[in-house]
Amino acid sequence: MQAIEVTDFGDNSVVEVTERERPDPGPGQLRVDVRAAGINFADIMQRRGHYQRGPEPPYVAGMEVAGVVDAVGEGADGEVGDRVMGFADGGAFAEYALASAGGLLDAPEGMSFAEAAGVPVQFLTAHNCLFEWGGLEEGERVLVHAAAGGVGTAAVQLASNAGSEVFGTASTQEKLDLAADLGCDHPVNYTETDFAERVEDITDGEGLDLVLDGVGGETSSRSLEALREFGRIVCYGAASGRPGQLDTGELLFNNYTVYGYHLGRGMVKAPGRVLEAVGPLNEGFAGGDLEVVVGHEFALEDAAEALQFIEDRNSSGKVVLKP
Ligand SMILES: NC(=O)c1ccc[n+]([C@@H]2O[C@H](COP(=O)([O-])OP(=O)(O)OC[C@H]3O[C@@H](n4cnc5c(N)ncnc54)[C@H](OP(=O)(O)O)[C@@H]3O)[C@@H](O)[C@H]2O)c1
Repeated sequence: MQAIEVTDFGDNSVVEVTERERPDPGPGQLRVDVRAAGINFADIMQRRGHYQRGPEPPYVAGMEVAGVVDAVGEGADGEVGDRVMGFADGGAFAEYALASAGGLLDAPEGMSFAEAAGVPVQFLTAHNCLFEWGGLEEGERVLVHAAAGGVGTAAVQLASNAGSEVFGTASTQEKLDLAADLGCDHPVNYTETDFAERVEDITDGEGLDLVLDGVGGETSSRSLEALREFGRIVCYGAASGRPGQLDTGELLFNNYTVYGYHLGRGMVKAPGRVLEAVGPLNEGFAGGDLEVVVGHEFALEDAAEALQFIEDRNSSGKVVLKP
């Protein structure tokens, strides 16, 4: 089968198309005939060697799949022909991938595989960060950074549907327009305007209740300035390449609450809490209140190009690979 291998840590020159044996599922595993694989920022961090507990090269890249079960390992819960989406045990950027049965969910009825590949990481993360972690309530003000990104497009819709006032940051007008179309009330181009000052203006100095921060670096510390007292921030990523540094003095004097969120560790340590989101998400998809924004589809063999496209910040919504 065709697979995308990362041969060393580095830039996209280490990403190669290879031929591998089709893997056989072990106990508890299912083999998925991959129809679409979701690309995540974490794939880039892993390739760079910047991902804590990431795989060592050479490895087949990719963590998120949608497809059809075509082989069932001993004791695994699942059947040949099941339409699934979820977390591969590594190696999702391939024609076939193995996944632990507990890491797969039913693909929602009527959803294409490209859309389904955009659900597990982005929508679980967005829902968990907003609600199960961030405790967002109706009428609250929330800021979603990278609002036109994968997690961002999911979070904007979910927050808007929940009746909150949604602020979003993005770097281009096209991205801001997309965020607005999805329900962002206050799209802010942070490359032209200081987002914390803009929030202060719009809210007459009251500030935000919640920030979703997947960018890190200075964006994290600046976000505290946009929060009201007793506000919350959920730190779930570092797309800027640097984790944020938060001043504990600011935290204590303002009664701020900081949450860390990691989907993969959550699935291992508290799957029930993470998967609380599945019911409401499926309802949202079925009722047409939620859409997966598949911004870009690439052929599997163009994986390096697709990764570069995301790193160059050209992507919006979800980027998927099609074997
Ligand atoms: N903790 C978890 O479990 C978890 C789960 C999912 C994702 N994440 C993290 O969440 C973040 C967003 O993930 P995603 O997959 O949805 O990505 P994404 O939002 O589709 O892409 C990243 C976006 O971040 C913004 N950005 C800001 N500074 C950047 C920089 N220096 N380089 C590249 N992009 C930059 C860009 O939007 P603008 O051009 O609009 O600034 C870019 O489009 C990533 O850090 C990812 O690792 C974490």
